[in-house]
Amino acid sequence: MKIIDNIKELREEIKNLKGSIGLVPTMGALHQGHLSLINRAVKENDNTVVSVFVNPIQFGINEDLDKYPRQLENDTKLCENAGVKILFAPKVSEMYQGNKDELTLICPPYEAVNKLCAKSRPGHFDGVCSVVAKLFNLTKANRAYFGQKDAQQLFIIKKMVKDLNFDIEIISCPIVREADNLALSSRNQYLTQHDRKLALNISKALFQAKKDYKEGIATKKSITDNSLKLMEDLDVEYIEFVDINTFEIQTQINNDTLILIAARVPESDTRLIDNIKLWD
Ligand code: PAJ
Repeated sequence: MKIIDNIKELREEIKNLKGSIGLVPTMGALHQGHLSLINRAVKENDNTVVSVFVNPIQFGINEDLDKYPRQLENDTKLCENAGVKILFAPKVSEMYQGNKDELTLICPPYEAVNKLCAKSRPGHFDGVCSVVAKLFNLTKANRAYFGQKDAQQLFIIKKMVKDLNFDIEIISCPIVREADNLALSSRNQYLTQHDRKLALNISKALFQAKKDYKEGIATKKSITDNSLKLMEDLDVEYIEFVDINTFEIQTQINNDTLILIAARVPESDTRLIDNIKLWD
């Protein structure tokens, strides 16, 4: 495996690759969720490129950019063992010459960002789309792998690819969870044991909603009320219901409903997101 930290060398290595290229963009601190994407990319492509880059332009001013876990040594081992060809881990100065307001950015449209995570994190998806577009250009990947854990991100990236005619296939991968259903996240590292117990109520609320829906006893209101009760020790940022195909907010639930939750665990001030499809 080649570990590359600069664009010039990356471009040369990419030129020398034979066959298809799969890209897995990450911010590192890799866990089994990331590895599920990486393993799939290795299986489906002749070459897999993983990027590890804590992208400053997708973080808000008061967010966790400085404390975000950086564990490149361990990430390197995991990628090597998984059969990755290139690990691209650039410094910020290699990716951006200038501050965010001096850069050309890709900004998803108002109706895609006037809800859910985008509402509480203004400018977040401009940062995500811009870095992902750069990675698409740099790696010339045929396929890129994204997790359903970040469902709004996945939807917005698919839209960007369609709207801007990127010649790349976006592969959507299922959420990987702990045995007790907590969705894996690099930010779980912030949680104390006590916080982890509280955080578990997010997935509990989602799985309860799905069970109630399957039993025919769920409405949007009953799910919201039950979930908020389960999550009373968390600061719930949103619980929202969208059509999985259009990401439009629904007034009534159906088989295409995706329920999304963002909540903050107060003690460790950790923001977590999770989602579930009501029917599959
Ligand atoms: P990061 O949070 O590191 O996630 C990288 C990829 O791993 C994303 O596609 C995310 O959806 C996926 N992922 C994370 N946890 C997962 C889980 N439990 N199960 C399945 N997939 C999971 O998302 C980002 O980084 C950044 O925004 C990025 C796209 C790299 C742009 O900077």
